[in-house]
Amino acid sequence: MTDRTQNTMWGGRFAAGPDAIMEAINASIGFDRRLHAQDIAGSRAHAAMLAAQGIISDKDATAIREGLLTVLSEIEGGNFVFSTALEDIHMNVEARLKEVIGEPAGRLHTARSRNDQVATDFRLWVRDQADAAIVGLVALQKALLRQAEAGADWVMPGFTHLQTAQPVTWGHHMMAYVEMFGRDAGRFADARARMNECPLGAAALAGTSFPIDRHATAEALGFDRPMANSLDAVSDRDFALEFLAAASITAMHLSRFAEELVIWSSAQFRFVALSDRFSTGSSIMPQKKNPDAAELIRAKIGRIMGANVALMMVMKGLPLAYSKDMQEDKEQVFDAADTLMLALAAMEGMVRDMTANRASLEAAAASGFSTATDLADWLVRALGLPFRDAHHVTGSLVALAEKKGCDLPELSLDEMKSAHPGITQEVYSVLGVHNSVASRQSYGGTAPDQVRAQVARWKERLG
Ligand code: ARG
Repeated sequence: MTDRTQNTMWGGRFAAGPDAIMEAINASIGFDRRLHAQDIAGSRAHAAMLAAQGIISDKDATAIREGLLTVLSEIEGGNFVFSTALEDIHMNVEARLKEVIGEPAGRLHTARSRNDQVATDFRLWVRDQADAAIVGLVALQKALLRQAEAGADWVMPGFTHLQTAQPVTWGHHMMAYVEMFGRDAGRFADARARMNECPLGAAALAGTSFPIDRHATAEALGFDRPMANSLDAVSDRDFALEFLAAASITAMHLSRFAEELVIWSSAQFRFVALSDRFSTGSSIMPQKKNPDAAELIRAKIGRIMGANVALMMVMKGLPLAYSKDMQEDKEQVFDAADTLMLALAAMEGMVRDMTANRASLEAAAASGFSTATDLADWLVRALGLPFRDAHHVTGSLVALAEKKGCDLPELSLDEMKSAHPGITQEVYSVLGVHNSVASRQSYGGTAPDQVRAQVARWKERLG
């Protein structure tokens, strides 16, 4: 009820200040202070443009632009007192600017609204995060490439249904993730290209009667162009949703890989040893070395995907143009971005440090009749059997080996002939796992030569 709480930005129409609960639900300064650098960059560009267009004086623009730098250094130095009564980062910065430079501060908001201001700030912030995600993904890809190069010809079981399927190479498995993370980076790059249009100058929703130059502010802020429709400019948050969608897919990939690392590092598999730096011990079981980082990465998708769903729900029923609902766009995106960057860094560290257990991989590759398909293919090639018949003959040999408790290469030639009389000694040459992988020379296949070609292509691409 007092002047003390009355808002200086719109106090003219209001007789009383807000209720404390109203203030609490309304304020966003608790989180949108993260946009301070973007907010100040946007305001500096706006002020310069206003002066260039003759809308404010050069003197005022200079005072505003310099004052904003003072405010920036105060915030960055931790000397800025944020006020909940001032609601958000935009009004906190402007109010402080007034204290620093006086009257000219009041001219900054000419031809602008917080609606285009926040849309601009948030785009700038999300754009930086898309770039950071790409950097994180490339670092992870490079760590994977080193693993792939070292183990281009190490054999391991390839799985379907988590049942041994066919032997593959370690390098091939690593390169599968390089491809996935490469597409993830591509999604961030696509989203970035689409989001790189500037909302500033859309004002509240309808544009402005001042002779502003939206191309100039767009260019000053590194945007490709101004957004073409002022209603759209202040209304949509699809750029943040695209970021979250790309982040969700990346997190899904990270989660799958994390799951594999959890399985592979178990005593039952022993495919990899994770470094001490990325493992933890147990407070009660002295023998334990737990893959906590992998488990946490596996779980983090919940927060990222949750943010995607939450923002979609915020946006889905909103009439054009701005509604205060849209203030709820930020926290989730901040959390999702932080979570993603941490997960990427942790995964990169784990991959960089981990040691593949070549002997365990090879032993596992040879078990589970993993070369049964090679045997069937040989029957087709050498004896001219239709594939379906070859499949049947091989199946009976697998059953025989299973009964005897041995692997396919351990069956005698006579036993082989019992399934099909045409089988010769030559069959044994395709039953070894190294022969098996070496034969898979089709483009993109698991043969070491193919893997090395994939590695070379990506090395060139990533530089
Ligand atoms: N803090 C607000 C947000 O984040 C800024 C825009 C406020 N606009 C308004 N018309 N009340 O969305």
